[in-house]
Amino acid sequence: MTPTIETILSHRSIRKFTEQAIDPEQLDTIIQSGLAASSSSMLQVVSIIRVTDLDKRKTLAKLAGNQPYVESAAEFLVFCIDYHRHFTINPNVNTEYTELTIIGAVDCGIMAQNCLLSAESLGLGGVYIGGLRNSASEVDELLELPQHCAVLFGLCLGHPDQDPQIKPRLPAKVIMHENSYQALDLSNIESYDKKMQDYYASRSSNQKQSIWSQEVTNKLAGESRPHIKGYLNHKGLTKR
Ligand SMILES: Cc1cc2nc3c(=O)[nH]c(=O)nc-3n(C[C@H](O)[C@H](O)[C@H](O)COP(=O)(O)O)c2cc1C
Repeated sequence: MTPTIETILSHRSIRKFTEQAIDPEQLDTIIQSGLAASSSSMLQVVSIIRVTDLDKRKTLAKLAGNQPYVESAAEFLVFCIDYHRHFTINPNVNTEYTELTIIGAVDCGIMAQNCLLSAESLGLGGVYIGGLRNSASEVDELLELPQHCAVLFGLCLGHPDQDPQIKPRLPAKVIMHENSYQALDLSNIESYDKKMQDYYASRSSNQKQSIWSQEVTNKLAGESRPHIKGYLNHKGLTKR
């Protein structure tokens, strides 16, 4: 076990922060950790908007579906897929391919996770905020994102003021396949559901009687932000 692996394995999202600011040197290290991430074809398709304006934070907390930690976290970083840079260098670039949006989303995810892990290794905590996409156009307008630059998710960072349990994950035998796809063994899901039922019933906040398979199938039975396609198209992305 290395300290890096220990950090990775002790991850849990933090949604309650003290008022303490993040030391500027630490913040710089966190950002440098993000910049060190791999990037598909070295396209470097990420922009991060650091939101320090408290009025904007308040508005973003509301736009994300009333998530108060967006306002109370020491730092709030918004990760955007950004082809505006490439377009500015040469307006002949084709940004419309869905493939390029996938590249941007993957680049953003990898960079953000480097930032979060770096923060966690410094004793800080954080949580991603996909809720920003509830109101993608409003967030976009508030942050004055140019054409070919689209909001993806936020990241709250700060000093933890809570110590939540680690959430159990699906076991490797469900996620991992060897050489070809192996059929799902539902008994593995049943055992995981039992684990998650105990977790939901005993966790420190938001306790509930539920199981994982019910939670996720309920979620997938509904619509998933159907406005996103139009938003991305409007930004000149995912048109073909
Ligand atoms: C891209 C992304 C978006 C997320 N958006 C939100 C969010 O808007 N609000 C929130 O409270 N948690 C959000 N989360 C956190 C997940 O709910 C959390 O990671 C998951 O439940 C597992 O819990 P853990 O991180 O504590 O292990 C998001 C996570 C990811 C990866």
